[in-house]
Order: sequence, then structure tokens, then C-alpha cells
Amino acid sequence: MKFIDEIKRRRTFAIVSHPDAGKTTLTEKLLLFGGAIHVAGAVKSNKIKRTATSDFMEIERQRGISVATSVMGFEYNNIKINILDTPGHKDFAEDTYRTLTAVDSVIVVIDAAKGVESQTEKLMNVCRMRNTPVIVFINKLDREGKDPFDLLDEIEEKLKIKVRPLSWPIGIGKSFKGVYNLYEHKLNIFTQADKQIAEKPIELLDLDSKDLDYYVTENSADLLREELNLINGVYSDFILDDYLEAKISPVFFGSALYNFGVKELLDCFINIAPSPTQSKTVERFVSPEEEKFSGFVFKIHANMDPNHRDRLAFVKICSGTFKRNTNYLHIRLGKKLKFSSPTAFMASKKSVIEEAFPGDIVGLHDTGSFKIGDTFTEGEQLHFTGIPNFAPELFRYIDNADPMKSKQLNKGIIQLMDEGVAQLFISTLNGRKIIGTVGALQFEVIQYRLLHEYGAQCRYEPISLYKACWFESDNEEKLSDFKSRKYKFIAKDKFQRHVFLADSAYSLQMAQEKFPEIKFYFTSEV
Ligand code: G4P
Repeated sequence: MKFIDEIKRRRTFAIVSHPDAGKTTLTEKLLLFGGAIHVAGAVKSNKIKRTATSDFMEIERQRGISVATSVMGFEYNNIKINILDTPGHKDFAEDTYRTLTAVDSVIVVIDAAKGVESQTEKLMNVCRMRNTPVIVFINKLDREGKDPFDLLDEIEEKLKIKVRPLSWPIGIGKSFKGVYNLYEHKLNIFTQADKQIAEKPIELLDLDSKDLDYYVTENSADLLREELNLINGVYSDFILDDYLEAKISPVFFGSALYNFGVKELLDCFINIAPSPTQSKTVERFVSPEEEKFSGFVFKIHANMDPNHRDRLAFVKICSGTFKRNTNYLHIRLGKKLKFSSPTAFMASKKSVIEEAFPGDIVGLHDTGSFKIGDTFTEGEQLHFTGIPNFAPELFRYIDNADPMKSKQLNKGIIQLMDEGVAQLFISTLNGRKIIGTVGALQFEVIQYRLLHEYGAQCRYEPISLYKACWFESDNEEKLSDFKSRKYKFIAKDKFQRHVFLADSAYSLQMAQEKFPEIKFYFTSEV
């Protein structure tokens, strides 16, 4: 197959949702369609159950599962689909944010009964920042839920996107009869069986046809006609370019558990979702069709085997063809490296590959020198941008609890930070190390992993801080005035950038008011 066709047939995306909305169930049903798995229940959820928040073994077990399901590749109708998995637990939200930098589109799953939940709002903020095209799947229609019009309003308001339904439910919960597919003008009748093969939809171009009454009863048919009239009046027509430019999000309804509405979603998805698009670097835009290989590390996963310190770096291929045993330049290290066993992921199986194309993810073995955001090329100096660091909201001083192991502790901290587990700040006041995270679990993960992977022991000391944010200004005078007045609250991040450690919302607000010349940032890009 021609290189250009390989690019065009790739769809690399993530399914995101608030925990329990049905992300894992939907993923599994998509894999069933692709023939990548053959029985339901084969994909284990990588979410850490709520009850296990302080169970380290559970965390470790989950990390093991999540490496296997990090990328799930499969073929469907000659389209190569790469689903990038994201952790469900909110404390690992940063992992999810970073994964979103490696996808070309996103499917958001929403529970019809719960509507838009907090985690979904946060994830959508990241999609908006990056103009990622989004398809919405409203799930669990087999259960009682909110009115579909109310749901669409809620999605528009809370997720700040414009929507366009491409399927429409006929009833909900006990009275759920099926969906009408507005994209293909087909009727899908719901049956309560967990089917591996979807029901064959009924072609129904003319909604005034009596056939509709026959299939869904007269009352439901009348209501559907009325609602569809309303939809066509309220929502503008679906325009593909608007979706690709992230200006509008098509919406589908269904029930992942009963494998209902999933095939419609998938068929439409492979048709409309973008193949790999251009990526931004500091130097220029990189187009996937370029002949020369380039890619970046968006995720690092520590190996589960404690006897081997090697890790797997997940590289998104942005341009050209990646080849096994070929020298590539690691830009930050300035070194040529070649990889004898690059890994690709098909469903939950890993295998060594000879080559990979833009949109694909390859796993590269790393002995501890890679960092999130690292770029590989055939020689050109490029630095991919857009991998966000989020302002952490939980902080603790981290100290060495075993003086004999300070080297191990430092190495461990640096490597865990490179993996993106948390962020490290050095206080300019006292030179002490401060760990900042977005979730409380990370502190336990760090302590556990330092001990088990590096043989180092750490101790935490509380520090009362509200938020860490990056700042800069063109006005040098004001900048140094701010730094000297707030010297107790200034630290440096791993890139030596200045960070303001605000101890309260009030002090942050005061700083913003008193120093209007200074810009405060709540995300920073690597
Ligand atoms: P997540 O990955 O987004 O966290 O959600 P997951 O797929 O694990 O689904 C959460 C729960 O919702 C599961 O039930 C799952 O079976 C159920 N579910 C998913 N889709 C549907 C649907 O369309 N209809 C209905 N009625 N339920 C759905 P659970 O009891 O929490 O877990 P399990 O014991 O079934 O694994």
C-alpha cells in the first residue's frame, strides 16, 4: 500500500468519560466489531476502583493492566483504528491530558442519567485547547435518564461546544424502542440482548411512512416525527468541515452494554473522523505526509518487572515511516539511537514491528533517559509542542528518610518526574524539594515506587499551598519587584522556569490585581 494511503486509513483517537459512564464497555464493543477480541469482558477496566484508593498492590495491578491496554489497534473495513486508553481515576487526569496530545480526535461518553459530570468538563477543556474534533456518545439509553433535548442543552452549556444530533432516541429506559440514524436515514430497533453482532438497521428514508408506526407504535412514531422536526429547526445541518475544525460535535445515542447504537457510531466515525493531521513544533508545522520520520514521547510507562528498570516510552509518529533498527536522532540528548524491538499494540497484544506510519503509536524500550515531550527525527532539529503541564493543587515537601540512599532518592525522583507522575519544584527560599500533584494518590504512588524500584525512602512534610502557576512579563522591573516581594513563594520547575506558589486563592487574586503587567499561567507546555 502506498505511504499516503497508509496515512489516510488511520484513525487515532481516545474515548474519554467521567468514571462509570461506560468508556470501557464502549471500547470493548468497538474491539468486538474489529474482531480484535471475541468475547465481551476481555478488556479489563484500567480504572482504580474507588474502594482501593490506598491499596498499593491495586495501583500496581492496575498499572500492569493499563500498559496492556494503553493502545488498542485494530482493523475495521480496511481502516486502521488506534484507540488510546486513558486512566479513569481522576488523580491520574494528567496522564489523560497528555494522551490527548497524541490523538487526532476524541469520543466523549456521557451517561444519559447523570448528564455532564465534572471529569468530562475538565477533559473537554483540554480538547478545546487543542481544537480536537469531538463526537459525543450518550450512553445507557436502556435505563431511565434525562430528556434528550435537556441533555443536548446541558452538553452545549457545560462543555461549551455546539452539538448536532446524528441519531435520535425513540423513548428511554423502559420505553426505549431504538434510535433513528439521521446520518444514514435508518431505523434501529432495540432488543434487550447483549449481542455481539448488531441488529440490521431498517432503511427508512420517509419518516411519514406507516412502516415507522408499525415498527415503533403509532404514538412513538408521532413523537419521533415531532422531535425530528424540532431538531431540524433548532440545529443547523451537519457540516463535516465544522466537525473537523472542532466547531460542532455530532451526537449519537445508544447503549454500549447492549451493543446498541455502537455500530452506527463506529461506521460514522471511520467516515468522518480525521486521519493524522499536522503537528506543531517550535520550528514549524510537520505534516504526516513528509517523507522523513518524526515523532514524540507522550507517555512513559515503568516496567512492571522490579528486576529490570527499563521503561516503555510511547511515541506518536507524526511524519514519515518509522523503521526498526534505524538510527534516529533524540533531539534533547543529541544522540542517535536505534531500536531493535519497537512494539506495536494490536488489541491487548504487543508485538515487535518492522515499520509504523503516522498516527501509529510505537513502544520504545528506554533505560531511564527519556522524558515526556522528547522528540525523535531523522536529523532535523524539531521540538514538538503542546504537551501540557497543569498547575498542581496538592503539595508536600519531600525529604530523604534514609541518608545512605540519597543518590537513589534523587535519581528516583527525577525519573518519576520525567515519567510525568508529578511535578517537582525547588523553593528559592530554602532550596527544598516540593512535589506538586493534581491528585492525592500520586503521593502514595511516588513513595511506593521510590521504595520498590529505587530502594529509596522518602518522607513527606505538609506545606500549605493553594496553587502553583507559571508567570512571565515583558516588564523586567515589575518582574523583579514581584519576585523580591514574593520571594518566600517563588520556586523553579524542572526547566528552571519561575513558578509562583500561591498560599491561598486570595493571595493569587491579589498578586494578579497588584501586578497587572505579569501574566499568570495555569498550564505550561513542554
Ligand atoms: P468506565 O470505563 O467509563 O468507568 O465505565 P464502564 O464501562 O466500566 O461502565 C460502568 C458501569 O456501567 C458498568 O457496570 C457497566 O456494565 C455499566 N454500563 C456501561 N454501559 C452501559 C449501558 O449502556 N447500559 C447500562 N445499563 N449499563 C452500562 P458495573 O456494574 O459498575 O460494572 P461491571 O460489574 O458490569 O463491570
